[in-house]
Amino acid sequence: MSDKAILQYQDKTFEFPVIKGSENELAIDIKTLRAQSGMITIDPGYKNTGSCESAITFLDGEKGILRYRGYSIEDLAEKASFIEVVYLLIFGELPTKVQLEDFQKDIVAESHVDEEMKKILDGFPKSAHPMGVLASLTSALISFNPNSVNVSSDKEMYAAIVRIVAKFPVLVAWTMRKKKGLPLDYGDDSLSYVENIHKMMFKKPSQEYTKNKVIIDALDKLLILHADHEQNCSTSTVRIVGSSHAGLFASLSAGISALWGPLHGGANQAVLEMLEAIEADGGDTKKYMAKAKDKNDPFRLMGFGHRVYKNFDPRAKIIKKAADEVLNNLGIDDPILAIAKGLEKEALEDQYFVDRKLYPNVDFYSGIIYRALGIPTEMFTVMFALGRLPGWIAQWKEMRENNEPIGRPRQVYVGENFRDFIPVENR
Ligand code: CMC
Repeated sequence: MSDKAILQYQDKTFEFPVIKGSENELAIDIKTLRAQSGMITIDPGYKNTGSCESAITFLDGEKGILRYRGYSIEDLAEKASFIEVVYLLIFGELPTKVQLEDFQKDIVAESHVDEEMKKILDGFPKSAHPMGVLASLTSALISFNPNSVNVSSDKEMYAAIVRIVAKFPVLVAWTMRKKKGLPLDYGDDSLSYVENIHKMMFKKPSQEYTKNKVIIDALDKLLILHADHEQNCSTSTVRIVGSSHAGLFASLSAGISALWGPLHGGANQAVLEMLEAIEADGGDTKKYMAKAKDKNDPFRLMGFGHRVYKNFDPRAKIIKKAADEVLNNLGIDDPILAIAKGLEKEALEDQYFVDRKLYPNVDFYSGIIYRALGIPTEMFTVMFALGRLPGWIAQWKEMRENNEPIGRPRQVYVGENFRDFIPVENR
């Protein structure tokens, strides 16, 4: 096979190297395209554009494969803890016992969020959407940790990473506690990372916190499944914001905002609201299937379809099984689960969905588990952000370490040609 791609335009030909990834993915390297030809490419939604070479996550949308640093998502979801996956994604290898202990010690040492931050949270109305609050708090954290803005050594990079891994769960917990009218609290350094998150979110002032293995295992699994997904919308946002050297926390805050949208992470909230609406409407799934297929109706079957997965989303398979297990173990009989399963069955047999290769994605069943764990619907995307944090950090770190240039796409201008200015009285 040729290792060059040839572009012919009018009477000229231009040659470009073809590069191959470690899983044999091929890409035409067009870095010299504009210099050679004066032309650019146009690719709205970047459906055919690779923005970087990355060694973090591999996914094959046709085969339904997802691996972090070479490890399959199935193995990690089954055997690893979330904090091990955090380390793996950010530093490239699974930690040894000692490395993990040291990492956890460093996190514990940074788990305090400045009391003044509570005043910022106070300023938000209770009705504020938790994603907006979380993005703002993450951004506000910069002012309290100015050393984390610009990192110029490995040591500073590590310190900034540990700081946000330690403090982000506090922000997540405060965001939820504010919503629920609970007093803001700190964690318990004697607990594991995920247990501590759970305690910080749910501990009532008048009750002792009791650990529940089913809940902690479910949370661990959900967070692992969301931990990275290569160059998706929010991750690309983190990388592009970071490419201006804006700093880790600012880049993460932008990523949170990108994740909020219902076509991305916001889909988990939208799925549950859709399932509740179907239930309230008598459970008529066929009616909603018809709406989803009607091109004059803006309704989409939320939690279905994916830009990259055109076979199945391996995360959805794991989550569906987990939803069954968690609800069983907690003794919850949720009619919403039956509606979700019914919708999935119908969609998988429907020609519209089959033709367009639309399968349930990670967001289709995750909300059912969050709901079973007592997490309010508006917090679902915040939970996604908590899971995605290590992926965003790993991608930002890789971008900085590779000295990637500032992200700055071009455009094809289709507006007015030059025209003379006309003073307002003559218009
Ligand atoms: N319901 C009904 N039709 C759909 C759906 C859906 N959920 N998703 C895609 N289609 C149709 C779409 O109308 C189009 O049809 P046609 O070819 O006749 O015009 C075709 O399928 C291709 O869709 P697209 O919008 O061009 O595909 P995309 O790759 O640009 O979008 C997507 C991917 C995830 C944004 C889209 O499938 C969608 O809106 N899904 C619902 C929202 C959702 O669940 N998002 C979570 C994604 S996974 C987690 C994450 O990223 O955070």
